[in-house]
Amino acid sequence: MSETAAPLVEVTGLTKRYGDTLAVDGVDLTVLPGEVYGFLGPNGAGKTTALRILTGLIAPTSGTVRVLGGAPGQAQVLARTGSMIESPAFYPYLSGLDNLRLLAEYAEVPRARIHEVLALVDLTDRARDRFSTYSLGMKQRLGVAAALLKDPELVILDEPTNGLDPAGMRDMRRLIRELGADGRTVLLSSHLLGEVQQICDRVGIISQGKMVAEHNVEELRGQQELVIRAVPRESARSVLTEALGADTVHLYDDTLRVKVAPDRAAEVNRVLVEAGIAVSELRSTERALEDVFFELTTTHPEEKADVG
Ligand SMILES: Nc1ncnc2c1ncn2[C@@H]1O[C@H](COP(=O)(O)OP(=O)(O)O)[C@@H](O)[C@H]1O
Ligand SMILES: [Mg+2]
Repeated sequence: MSETAAPLVEVTGLTKRYGDTLAVDGVDLTVLPGEVYGFLGPNGAGKTTALRILTGLIAPTSGTVRVLGGAPGQAQVLARTGSMIESPAFYPYLSGLDNLRLLAEYAEVPRARIHEVLALVDLTDRARDRFSTYSLGMKQRLGVAAALLKDPELVILDEPTNGLDPAGMRDMRRLIRELGADGRTVLLSSHLLGEVQQICDRVGIISQGKMVAEHNVEELRGQQELVIRAVPRESARSVLTEALGADTVHLYDDTLRVKVAPDRAAEVNRVLVEAGIAVSELRSTERALEDVFFELTTTHPEEKADVG
């Protein structure tokens, strides 16, 4: 992934209003060539709405959107984009193969490509069975196969593991990682943090229509903090806040979390002990994306405003 490569998706100030509902509220988003980008947020956050706009299914209320250098929905953009938004629609009485044949004909894709994509999603053995006999996981994989027919540079998948059982989820995650490893650019949405952490290179966290943070997953994994148990807890908190700054110290369940490098543990301990505070536990931990997600999507709205 080169830093100078032009973004495949460039979104600024994207807004979509439904009556009184701001489904998408001023979202900025950049997806770079070759990355797997995860759009992460709870149900109702605005993920599907944003992806519908990016695939040209609906028009934004305001904002600018560039996909593969053009406007979403333009023929030459659609030709290079594959997508699966919500559950894919197929003819139940036709086989997976025949469903793909219909789509391939419409998209003017050579027949040989159908077998390639069936193999990619591991459906070759069941390709001649009726769609209606497929498990949910197989249906979703056929949806991904359909999205891949045109051999697109950009693949947009809306909650691709939604409703799947654990084995189906594992297969789908593996498939998406393979697409990414293949040099394809993937933009997916999910409400499952662990999933995004496993699959994606970068993650944008959306909550109530707003993008509240954007992170490189590797960096996030690497972020460390100190976990401290001390009494009295409130004094410990104020002492540390005084010494390290308010942004650095958070109360989390019954522990204090301090965002400093682990080699500052001795210094932190000394500050507490000198203030007459009893420290019963002090250890370093990797700050999981889960904590960040939780912090960003569930803290009080007035605190959310000053994040990222
Ligand atoms: N067609 C629509 N008409 C009215 N409201 C909608 C429509 N689509 C989505 N919304 C609302 O927009 C918000 C975001 O929805 P959605 O994009 O589906 O979120 P997500 O995919 O993150 O679960 C929700 O409050 C939803 O009810
Ligand atoms: Mg959705």
